[in-house]
Formats: sequence, C-alpha cells, structure tokens
Amino acid sequence: MTNKMWGGRFQSGPDAIMEEINASIGFDKRLFAQDIAGSKAHAAMLAKQGIISKPDAALIRKGLDQVQAEIEAGAFTFSRALEDVHLNVESRLKELIGPAAGRLHTARSRNDQVALDFRLYVRDTVDRLDQQLKALQLALAEKAEAHAATVMPGFTHLQVAQPVTFGHHMLAYVEMLARDRSRLADARRRMNENPLGAAALAGTSFPIDRHMTAAALGFDRPTRNSLDTVADRDFVLETLSACAICSMHLSRLAEEIVIWSTSQFRFVKLSDRFTTGSSIMPQKRNPDAAELVRAKPGRIIGALLSLLTVMKGLPLAYSKDMQEDKEPAFDAFDNMSLAIAATTGMVRDMVPNKDEMRKAAAAGFSTATDLADWLVRTLKIPFREAHHVTGSLVALAEKTGCDLPELPIAAMQSVEKRITRDVYKVLTVEASAASRTSFGGTSPRNVAREAKRWLKLLKG
Ligand code: ARG
Repeated sequence: MTNKMWGGRFQSGPDAIMEEINASIGFDKRLFAQDIAGSKAHAAMLAKQGIISKPDAALIRKGLDQVQAEIEAGAFTFSRALEDVHLNVESRLKELIGPAAGRLHTARSRNDQVALDFRLYVRDTVDRLDQQLKALQLALAEKAEAHAATVMPGFTHLQVAQPVTFGHHMLAYVEMLARDRSRLADARRRMNENPLGAAALAGTSFPIDRHMTAAALGFDRPTRNSLDTVADRDFVLETLSACAICSMHLSRLAEEIVIWSTSQFRFVKLSDRFTTGSSIMPQKRNPDAAELVRAKPGRIIGALLSLLTVMKGLPLAYSKDMQEDKEPAFDAFDNMSLAIAATTGMVRDMVPNKDEMRKAAAAGFSTATDLADWLVRTLKIPFREAHHVTGSLVALAEKTGCDLPELPIAAMQSVEKRITRDVYKVLTVEASAASRTSFGGTSPRNVAREAKRWLKLLKG
C-alpha cells in the first residue's frame, strides 16, 4: 500500500521489511500528547497570522481534542503503515474533520515536529525526575536528622578508616543528588527553546510567528537557526548524561545497601517490601531492589553511548538516523525514574542497626588518627612523628590482641613516656566523631545542622 500521506510520488508501497525498519509508531506513540499540544499551538498561530482561516483552526482544535480523548481511552488504532505518531494523529484528524486537517501541516515539517515533540517530552521528564530526586533527598535528609549522632565506621578502600556518623553518610548522597538536579536544571534551561517553525530545514516562506508558539508551549524563545534546530539532539544527550551520572550515584548507594545488609555487616535492616526470599534457602532476605538499582547504569549509560554514536558524523540537517534517538532514551528515562523510586522506598524503610555500626566503628583502630592528633596537640610532637608513634602503639595493640582504648597506660608509656591517661578521652568513637567540627566534617552537631538546613530547603 502506498503511504497515504507522502505516497503521491511512489508507484508501489514499501514492502514489509521497509515498513518494519521505517516505522516508529511502536515507540513514538508515547509522544501523542506532546504532538497534539504542538499541533494546537501551531494551528492557533497559523490562524492568528491569517495563514489558515479561524473556522479551520477551530475545527482542527476540536478534532485534535477528540483524537487525544480516543488515544487516552485506548480507543485509537495506531497503524504501522502510517509510520509514526505525527502521521497517525493527522490521518485520524482527517477522518474526523475532513479536508481542513490537511491545512494543519502548512509551514511545518515532521522534522521540526518531532524535534518539538521530543523536546517537550524530555522537558516533562526532567521536571518529573527533579521532583523524584527531591523526594529522595528528603528521605535521606530525614534519615540524616534522625541519625546525626549514630556512629558508624567511615571507610576508605572499604577498610575501616575513621568513625563518621550515619547521618553524615546520608547527607553525602543528598549533596550528590543536588548536583544531579542542578545538571538537569541546566539541561532544561538550554533545551527550553522552540524548534517549531524551522520546518524541514530552511524555515518557511509563510509569515509564521515563532514567538507566539514559543510562548504557548512554555518555551523561553524560538531557536535561532533552522538547520541546527532539526539536526540537534543535544537536549536528549544532556539529559541522558545527567541521568547517567545520577544512576551512577544511585548505584553506589545501592551497593552500600547491599554490603550493609549482609550478615557480615548487619549495619541496616531492609524492609520486606524491597527484598525477596530465596526459593530454596528459607533464611535468606535478598536485597534485589538494591541490586537492580546497582545495575541500572548499564542501560542508562548505554543509552547515552547509543545516541552519541548515532549522532556522530551525521551531516546537517535531519537524517532518519535520528529516529533511533527515542527507544534507548525512553528506556533510560523509565528506568531512571524507577531506580529513584526504588531507592527512595529503600531509604525510607531502612532501619540502621546502631549497635553493630558502633561496634564496627570501634574495630580496626579507627581512632588512631585521634591518638596521633592528641600527641600533636598535647605533647607538641610534629604530626609525622606522632604518626610514627601511633603506628607503634597500633602494632603493640595488635600484638596484645586489644583495641587502642584497652591498651594499658604502661604499655602506651613504653612507646612514648609522656603519654598520660588523658589520652583515653579521645580514643572513643563518639569523641572521635564529635571532634570533627571543621566545616563539612562529621561531628553530630555539624550533621544535625546540615540535616536541618537541607530539610528546610527541601520542604520550603
Ligand atoms: N519519525 C520520525 C523521527 O522520529 C519523524 C521525522 C520524520 N521526518 C522525515 N523527514 N521522514 O525522526
């Protein structure tokens, strides 16, 4: 069958393979709302400019409303022979309102139409992800406030390093997500220009008003170069790039949740809602949601690479290659959203095990730095030397099979005779954490203040 919409020049219709490779309706139908919103704005502008009549514009608007209602009700039959969402909507409009439908595509091309639809879709996506990320930040900040003084081991190289607080750890992720949100906002600012009116590639001879459609569709201004406009997918790439980084952040938190919930660590207990049992081992509680969040960057980073690869080397302006922009992006956005939702649920439900975390924080000579700092402060020993003395004390404790706070004063003095009992005050994990009062440090006072600041910001 010859394509009804552009088939005038063709003798015979595309064969089945051509139809299959060419059609995008299977996935771009999810752009229907954006497509219809764009068409309504376009028709209103055409009428205002006297390019089409007011009655035709009214008919088009009414018809488009009906098409939208049909699609939303699931009463619309999408046809692959009609290729894509643009032609499916327009063809149904023609059935509904007759020849006036044919005037809608004046001064427009599917090239600027798809650039518009996808931009609107990505903009909506950015707004939704931003709201979701904000909710996740809130969940983390609430945990941080509740656990501003809950001591846990801080790690480097996944080896116990120094005591920190669980709240501080939660707020680390709040900071990461703040940067993610700022990257999305930045992408949104740049993408918020109206592509409609670039037409196929060169603009149009009709006296259109691109500022009017820009305002109607919530854009800051029209784009400035018609060739760039139909050839550009930076708005998708930037959003995918922000998502890739964000998914990497969530993946790190997910990995920590996996580690923390093992029977070796037992730092947190996950709720039944985000874990599964084993079909064979009744004792098990598997952190499946966390594992899946950990895995999501695979497809999200994949989508970014996929679109960068499609776009590289493409000559200006539009090429059909660009139709390959949608499936990976949709998949990435869907999974980004799902990953944020799952993480938010896990964070809310997660119950930290204070005793286990404290015990772990005290192991591994985690207050050795505090001992060295005490030597510097109290005995005025240079830090490098204090580090050496502390190393000997740690070795001694290790040999004795005890922790630093249990090392008898006589043993301490055998290494450095000026050490007094006063030193024991800095060797507890609580004292260690409380002493980290530098800006951005882990002291419970800092953490409580930061958590409060975030909560106010996020709730305000
Ligand atoms: N379905 C196409 C896409 O997603 C719409 C634009 C088609 N333009 C064209 N000249 N064939 O990119």
